[in-house]
Amino acid sequence: MDYQADRVKNINLSQVRKMFEMASPTAINLALGEPDFDTPPHIIDALKDALDNNYTHYSQNKGEPVLRESIAKKLKKDNNINVDGDDVIVTVGASEALYSSIQALINPKDDVLIQDPAFLSYRECITLAGANAIPVKSTYENEFKTKVEDIEEAITPNTKAMIINSPSNPTGAVLEKEDVKSISDFATDNDIIIFSDEIYEKIIYGRNHYSFQSYCDNTVTINGFSKAYAMTGLRIGYCTSRPEIMEEILKVHQYNIACVDTATQIAANVALTSSQKCVSDMTAEFRKRRDLVVNSLNDMGLDCHMPDGAFYVFFHHDNPEEFVEKAVGEDVIMVPGRAFGSQGEKFIRISYAQSYENLKLAMERLEKIV
Ligand SMILES: Cc1ncc(COP(=O)(O)O)c(C=O)c1O
Repeated sequence: MDYQADRVKNINLSQVRKMFEMASPTAINLALGEPDFDTPPHIIDALKDALDNNYTHYSQNKGEPVLRESIAKKLKKDNNINVDGDDVIVTVGASEALYSSIQALINPKDDVLIQDPAFLSYRECITLAGANAIPVKSTYENEFKTKVEDIEEAITPNTKAMIINSPSNPTGAVLEKEDVKSISDFATDNDIIIFSDEIYEKIIYGRNHYSFQSYCDNTVTINGFSKAYAMTGLRIGYCTSRPEIMEEILKVHQYNIACVDTATQIAANVALTSSQKCVSDMTAEFRKRRDLVVNSLNDMGLDCHMPDGAFYVFFHHDNPEEFVEKAVGEDVIMVPGRAFGSQGEKFIRISYAQSYENLKLAMERLEKIV
């Protein structure tokens, strides 16, 4: 019996997960895609209160109205995006927002542009929709910042959409305002949808974040609570777009997951509407770690830019696989850049979502093998 559906035949399991499995218990894991900080206590308290108050039943499919209103307010204030709470769907992390919106808007055989290198899920979600992922090359020389010219070069007659991620996993690159604007104009003129993954919006160092949806109506904005509030395990995110587009996304969301865990939605509302000091404190700590890692790598003669966002450093190496393997021997786990696309072939990703002390130790271990 051929038990495998055609749509999963070419799907790969995550390389980053494979790196975790290789890690010994004493290894310093620099492959992590999540903040190492605890979820702030006021969010945990809100979750406990929500359970005590019986928020254990289904919510509306789109999500709790109170949370959707808070998200709409946040989008107006932080992102200059004018939507109502009704135009927001609360999802199981940004992951589900990405999956549901692609399933709702992309046809088999469509082409979808993705940055290369990019977060691994993009390619697989596009493949699951029967569509083709077309790489848009980002280069070290451009500090991995996507330009409209890169998109023009990659575009095909079948291009229906592009996925853009800024700040970026794996490079930490943050797009410039003029690039966000020119890519938005290009998408509007060519009737292309932008899936804008803004999950690292708050983890940004002395720079402003710009949202495509404030310039282009064809945008689906994807965001969530995992990174900004260290809530990865609570699995909550959201997406928003024009009402006609949201109606289509709701069809996939509703029949797939019905609704997100209701108590978590109440806790997420508290996260959004309380003081944001926990976010700025965490980002300040990430910034110190970024400086440590970049300066240490550069001192060892390993080239990388000082990234403006997220918690990753993408450094150059002529023989990444060998170096990553040697690092495993020294109990340091990293991910070869190839996992994120062919443009990552000569790079290695370090996540600095690790304590300052562990990062220092990891850098000493790497120095031994350089
Ligand atoms: C770029 C990017 N988008 C989306 C996600 C998924 O986030 P969530 O936990 O909200 O599903 C991640 C997680 O690593 C990510 O790096």
